Amino acid sequence: MTFEPKILGFLCNWCSYAGADLAGVSRIQYPTNIRVIRVMCSGRVDPVFIAEAFIEGIDGVIILGCHLGDCHYISGNYETELKMKMLSKLLNFIDFSDRIRLDWVSAAEGNRFAQIVGEFTEHIRKLGPNPLKEKKKKIEILDNLNTIKAVLSDRRLRGLVARQRELTTEGNVYNKVISSEEFEKFFDDAILNELLRHKIMIKIREKGKSVPNIAKEIGIEPYKVLQHIVTLRARGWVDVDEINEEIPTFISIKEG
Ligand code: FES
Repeated sequence: MTFEPKILGFLCNWCSYAGADLAGVSRIQYPTNIRVIRVMCSGRVDPVFIAEAFIEGIDGVIILGCHLGDCHYISGNYETELKMKMLSKLLNFIDFSDRIRLDWVSAAEGNRFAQIVGEFTEHIRKLGPNPLKEKKKKIEILDNLNTIKAVLSDRRLRGLVARQRELTTEGNVYNKVISSEEFEKFFDDAILNELLRHKIMIKIREKGKSVPNIAKEIGIEPYKVLQHIVTLRARGWVDVDEINEEIPTFISIKEG
């Protein structure tokens, strides 16, 4: 049986949705695989929505907004670019980054809308179904997607994304402007650290575990796990569960 991808499309009301409408009234053919959610601005698309879509088994997600400089809310689509960049970096860790596409379609570009949807559908068809559908990998992929959703929901990375333009153009509280390269490096480190911290949180959500056991489960050095546990304890997310033969186990105490 041929695989028919399920594509979810977020379209901004003022440009891309109107472009899709134009494609419809002009009878321009495009694949019927896409299901559309209309949002007022592409900036309204929270990356968490996209992680949730993958958790629900969607094969690919497309986000379409007004061309840069044309957003009806001035800078909404610039914010979208930054948010999707963060999402893409995170999804890269689990080989999902090819399953999203951000692009721009104006109200006058019915043909462009149809072309982008056609290209993306074909691209996802070649990639194959959402790996969550493979029984063997289901638990591992679900764990990874839930970890990414937790990272995306956390205010730390969101705060960094929100301040990126300010930090790289106006400067921090000491008026120091950070170069884009410096920010990228700092941001990449922050992404990796938050990902590992949330992975640890998921591993100790139901049962306390020792540092060596956590390290074995997530495949990193025990000293790194310990560093993250110290940070997580300082945040009040983790506590000692019990101590067996002088070896402590740690458990998540974070609500929600
Ligand atoms: S209104 Fe279209 S991207 Fe903001």
